[in-house]
Amino acid sequence: MCGIVGYTGAGQAAPVLLDGLSKLEYRGYDSAGIAVRDGEAEPVIVKEKGRIADLKKKIGSEDNVIGTCGIGHTRWATHGAPSETNAHPHHSDDNAVVGVHNGIIENYEEIRAKLKKKGYEFYSQTDTECIIKLVDYYYKKYQETPIEAIARAILRVRGSYALCLMFADYPGEIFCARNGSPMIIGMTGEDAFVASDVPAILNYTRHVYYIDNMEMAHLKKGGVEFFNIDGDRIEKELVEIKWDAEAAEKGGYEHFMLKEIHEQPKAVEDTIHSVVKDGNRIDLSGVGLSEEEIKKISQIYIVACGSAYHVGVSSQYVLEDLAGIPVRVELASEFRYRSMPLLQDALAIIISQSGETADSLEALRKMKASGIKTLAIVNVVGSSIAREADHVFYTLAGPEIAVATTKAYSTQLVANDLLAIEFGRVRGLLTDEEAYRLVEEVKSIPEKIATILEDKNRIQWFASKFANAHDIFFIGRGIDYATCMEGSLKCKEISYIHSEAYAAGELKHGTISLVEEGTLVIGVCTQSEVFEKTVSNMVETASRGAYLMGLTTEDNYSLEDVARFTVFVPKVDEHFSTSLAVVPLQLLGYYISLARGLDVDKPRNLAKSVTVE
Ligand code: F6R
Repeated sequence: MCGIVGYTGAGQAAPVLLDGLSKLEYRGYDSAGIAVRDGEAEPVIVKEKGRIADLKKKIGSEDNVIGTCGIGHTRWATHGAPSETNAHPHHSDDNAVVGVHNGIIENYEEIRAKLKKKGYEFYSQTDTECIIKLVDYYYKKYQETPIEAIARAILRVRGSYALCLMFADYPGEIFCARNGSPMIIGMTGEDAFVASDVPAILNYTRHVYYIDNMEMAHLKKGGVEFFNIDGDRIEKELVEIKWDAEAAEKGGYEHFMLKEIHEQPKAVEDTIHSVVKDGNRIDLSGVGLSEEEIKKISQIYIVACGSAYHVGVSSQYVLEDLAGIPVRVELASEFRYRSMPLLQDALAIIISQSGETADSLEALRKMKASGIKTLAIVNVVGSSIAREADHVFYTLAGPEIAVATTKAYSTQLVANDLLAIEFGRVRGLLTDEEAYRLVEEVKSIPEKIATILEDKNRIQWFASKFANAHDIFFIGRGIDYATCMEGSLKCKEISYIHSEAYAAGELKHGTISLVEEGTLVIGVCTQSEVFEKTVSNMVETASRGAYLMGLTTEDNYSLEDVARFTVFVPKVDEHFSTSLAVVPLQLLGYYISLARGLDVDKPRNLAKSVTVE
């Protein structure tokens, strides 16, 4: 989604802004812009629809944007079409206030109407222009400091935002505020940085401050100060970012997605080792869940979006079976507007790679407000969901850049597997020996994923054969159905081929009428209890003309008698089979997208982190 970078210091701002924005490209955007100020001069604002490369072309020589203070933005259109006019930065009529903004101002129409009555004119359709002009209005009306005017404005607006402003009267200074959208401040020597996301400033500093909701910051050369909503100075803790800058580069792979698929063995192994100690003992002390708390859990609610939701669907089978706790899996965007009676001794598990997904964050807040204990499974340290949850299980996937998640998804799966095993042991459903054996199985996953990756050429061949498919159906039962949901999403989001995941037994209740000569049907069959049933459903589609691909575990060679192309993954305890079966499906999605010549890492209309509803 939208990205923000700001800089003030001893060097030139434009190169830092453009470099930072390019590091945020992976989040998805449709236009970009920068505003740079040279001392007391008016800011130079350059904006362009399209890519950062288009913006750079428009800027031409860096001599055209001289100055040591500036702000930049990549926009993902919400209010108003992608266009140069709607791109940020935006400005007040006389350029007294220039700014960029992430998030959504919900009452922007009301603000616009109020300001119009005061004589303001609007040139864009954006909510951003409204908030900038509101700050300008208060700044002039009350003759206040920028911090006071911003505080007044943010008390008036509803919504989520990260805001970065420059005031004509304060050369070399940047003012920021946030509520709901992420924002970090970095310092090194005389240089001060602000960004919506760590990769934007990782080339310059690894020491950052996180601003909390309804807090503000004032950056100038050599220093930064923080304020609460009352305008009082507050202290913030400097946090060291441990990410490796190299981890956010492609490292020889053609795309981030392929690199991240290959990073799965390590990401999964690191996540396992963060809680599995000597003797296969699972230690949740870092997560902060005590045995007493675990014993009391009467119900688990898993709430998430997209792929993280698919993790929840797969994990519900594992948690119910191993820990004996009933599980409900809810889409965060639905859950937040539902009045569902919640059991008080429940545990809510919120799963999120970014930790900033707006709907998941609101679902977490709703759970907390209802008195439910919350556990976040999150990848980004210091993200909003991680900070607001009662307990956090950090996945150690490292930075995930490709829009389509792979390694974060895989780490979320094993995090849930380990919770299920430990919950089962503590609650007496599993003996120590059984828990030990299951942990051994989980520990075998990284090496088995690596084995699957060695066979990727076969999948690439098959992908090129079906690169022009119209529809793809993924069918399976139980855990295999959950795997299908993720396989189908991976395929459609980056290849733009329509696909559906279907519980195999449901096909004949309607959907099978879509199957015709040559339709690709992928049957996932890793669960012995329902193996024969899914195979029968595959055969039903084949007799209506479907081309069958089978995905199963080694030893189930009979599937080759039914499917025209079969992929085998190593055997693992069947509770954990999604971790292996999903890998060929990730590769399939990747190679179909590649064969179609699409932008694999940045698929159209999508953003990496969905910080709006
Ligand atoms: C799909 C994908 C999305 C995310 C979803 C939730 O490949 O990446 O469906 O899983 O937007 O994002 P997080 O996990 O950041 O909350």
